[in-house]
Amino acid sequence: MLRILGRVRANVLISGGTGSGKTTLLNCLTAFIEKDERVITCEDSAELQLQQPHVVRLETRPPNLEGEGEITMRDLIKNCLRMRPERIIVGEVRGPEAFDLLRAMNTGHDGSMGTLHANSPREALSRLESMITMGGYSLPSRTIREMITSSIDVIVQAARLHDGSRRITHITEVLGMEGDVIVTQDIFLYDILGRRPVRHADGPPPFDRHYQAAICRTRPLFQRGSQPRRSARTLQYRAAQLLDS
Ligand SMILES: Nc1ncnc2c1ncn2[C@@H]1O[C@H](COP(=O)(O)OP(=O)(O)OP(=O)(O)O)[C@@H](O)[C@H]1O
Ligand SMILES: [Mg+2]
Repeated sequence: MLRILGRVRANVLISGGTGSGKTTLLNCLTAFIEKDERVITCEDSAELQLQQPHVVRLETRPPNLEGEGEITMRDLIKNCLRMRPERIIVGEVRGPEAFDLLRAMNTGHDGSMGTLHANSPREALSRLESMITMGGYSLPSRTIREMITSSIDVIVQAARLHDGSRRITHITEVLGMEGDVIVTQDIFLYDILGRRPVRHADGPPPFDRHYQAAICRTRPLFQRGSQPRRSARTLQYRAAQLLDS
């Protein structure tokens, strides 16, 4: 599924808590970008390691002692649009640059990616909205949501489970709007059915909640050859077709 997302140039948002492996996952996703695409990365600290030959790496800069010379993430995203990128990869979206990223995704930079701090795909959407509102844009919330739905295709949720393992818990597609609400659909779900204690040789006693492994199954919410539930333009449909071919 992740390979398909990289190939069909879906706009992907990776969401997750602190240390849940968002940046690592973003790094993996960029591996599916074609060699001949021009990629521009915007980061606070250069963490991504892209293997493609046409990569331009931009990094923010804090102000100097006189308080001058600061380069913000917004400056980077705005300027990188003039550098003819085919894809824009933003290390972490944490402020008003969310607006510029959405606009870039909307204006022909398909296949852009970014990470964001949130605990569920739903929360990621509302965080995105509040970042834009906090940036001082006085747009009605419906307009912001419309912008989000027309820009973001998929949210990949990463999580650090109680036993310390990092897992992708959701791959969720953003479908559109119904009234004032953003409609999403899970494509993959990592179902946690229960927990079992893990006994470490010299660790704390079992049943400590930090030493429990999840009992789970990965549930693809579509099968080969299955009919998609919604319109033929959805990613789920394309994914099913690609798996069939
Ligand atoms: N699938 C994985 N299995 C094991 N360890 C992992 C996995 N993914 C990430 N890690 C490790 O987890 C740590 C945190 O990963 P990463 O920096 O990608 O998280 P992050 O969500 O970007 O964190 P932050 O919120 O600080 O930006 C790193 O040490 C990384 O090596
Ligand atoms: Mg990170």
